[in-house]
Amino acid sequence: MCGIIGIIGKNDISDRLLNGLKNLEYRGYDSAGIATIHDKEIHRRRAEGKLINLSHEVSKHPIKGSLGIGHTRWATHGVPNETNAHPHATNMVAAVHNGIIENFQTIKEELGLLGYKFQSDTDSEAIVHLISYYLDKGLSPKEAFSNSLNRLEGAYAIALIFSSNCEKIYGARSGSPLAVGWGDNEMFLGSDAAALSNETTNISYLEEGDLVELSRDGANFWNKLGEEVKRDIVESKFNPIQIGKGNFPHYMLKEIYEQPTVIGDTLNTFFNPADSEIKLPSLGVNLAKISKVTIVACGSSYYAGLVAKFWIERYARVSVEVDISSEFRYRETPLPKDGLTLFISQSGETADTLAALRYAKSQSQHIVSLVNVRESTIARESDGLLLINAGPEIGVASTKAFTCQLVALAVFTISLGVSKKIIDKNESKKLSKAISEVSSKIADILQDDLQIKSISDNFSDVSNVLYIARGSEYPIALEGALKLKEVSYIHSEGFAAGELKHGPIALIEKGVPVIVIAPEGPLYEKTISNMQEVIARGAKVIIITDSDKLGDLDKKVWKIVSMPKVDNFVNPILYSIPVQLIAYHVAVSRGADVDQPRNLAKSVTVE
Ligand code: G6P
Repeated sequence: MCGIIGIIGKNDISDRLLNGLKNLEYRGYDSAGIATIHDKEIHRRRAEGKLINLSHEVSKHPIKGSLGIGHTRWATHGVPNETNAHPHATNMVAAVHNGIIENFQTIKEELGLLGYKFQSDTDSEAIVHLISYYLDKGLSPKEAFSNSLNRLEGAYAIALIFSSNCEKIYGARSGSPLAVGWGDNEMFLGSDAAALSNETTNISYLEEGDLVELSRDGANFWNKLGEEVKRDIVESKFNPIQIGKGNFPHYMLKEIYEQPTVIGDTLNTFFNPADSEIKLPSLGVNLAKISKVTIVACGSSYYAGLVAKFWIERYARVSVEVDISSEFRYRETPLPKDGLTLFISQSGETADTLAALRYAKSQSQHIVSLVNVRESTIARESDGLLLINAGPEIGVASTKAFTCQLVALAVFTISLGVSKKIIDKNESKKLSKAISEVSSKIADILQDDLQIKSISDNFSDVSNVLYIARGSEYPIALEGALKLKEVSYIHSEGFAAGELKHGPIALIEKGVPVIVIAPEGPLYEKTISNMQEVIARGAKVIIITDSDKLGDLDKKVWKIVSMPKVDNFVNPILYSIPVQLIAYHVAVSRGADVDQPRNLAKSVTVE
């Protein structure tokens, strides 16, 4: 989603603004721009499409100035063209904005009547005209900014520069994150620490309602009541090496291959390998007393929640409800008194999940979040935290964060089952051992990548793909289909194998690829029967299985992806790997932009 960078430096900074924007590309965007102050004037360059277009524009028409702001825009109001790209500007002020100004139409109409001329179709442009209105009334830049913030409804992170002042940048947050970077007589603003990773790892995060004024030698913060406050400086884990691609052609592939390592890192935070004992951080809640868990998330994180439902109900015998954040928030679901609501979010910034969290809080729920970013808003607003250690995930399609979420949820399941005395010591040891072997088993699966690639290359020209599975692998069928449609744009759907005959089987015709996820276990035979039903109707089946007893099915299926044998408990984690690789290879063979798929954003900070 949109990204912000701001630099107040010593020399001309247009190249550094462009470099900062490069680090924000992963969030997803469709136009970009920068603005600087030089000779008491705003200089602005904007371009539709990828950053390379903006870089060409800046090379053709360079801009000077040692203070400036930049933006990658993911269109919400108005098509992605140059006019709608940020920064928006009047001759007095330029602004970049993440979020949505919900009352922009009212502001636009009011200021329009006073003669302020709007150029774009965006909600964001209202900000610069509103500030100009207050400047015209004689207010100082900071007063004009804070008066304008009082008028804005919706969500925002904003960075501003004023033509009258080449010594200061201003920022504010409400609903969308904003970070301040501390340099050597230089200061920075960024929508996240990644934006600033070329410049500094010393970061302060704005709190909700904060306004910040940056000068070369530091930052002054005010809270939502207008009181001057201090904000801690923390060391960011982002560094340019960590967010590089290494020798991999795409972030998505690099992140798929990182899974053995980051799963190990995640497990190490919850698990003592010496005695196979799980040590969950204190979640501030007595797990033994929990009668129901409500899980809320979006996208892949939601599918991780669906796996957790299966695990928690099966192994800890606690009933679980899983909801999509954008639905949960408005569904007014009855929640048990002092119940546990678990929010899963890789970024910790997803607007729908954050809004759902705030709703649950208003219903006196105990809030636990499972995130990959400790400093994220969702983490900070939670009572308890399960932190995964996936490292920065840059590919828009989640891979390593998803499997690390599963690992943390598996550990949570065991702890809950033990606390409720449903899982005994032996069972706990057995399940923990199964989790501790996941990393090496994934490394084995990755050894077969070439085979998975050659299978994938064979169906890059199809227009529909179905995924089927049962039990705890059913969410992996959903995740596999999501991965494929996200990165390859092939229409794909996941179904519970037993549900096929109630409708989806109508989609089967000769040659339609069906990916069957079928580990041996209690549901294996039933899944195979469903597979037979699609084969009988002409489907080309790719079966992902650990079974070596396929018998004559061997000749009926089109391709086989062989999996290692593991405890059924951890199958959903392992079977995620081939579906990720299939999505990746199919997308690459179709020439798709795997790391930045069209229309998608990594961290969706608007509702
Ligand atoms: C976006 C991303 C998905 C991600 C979802 C939830 O839609 O493209 O990959 O699963 O947001 O993100 P979160 O950060 O809350 O896990």
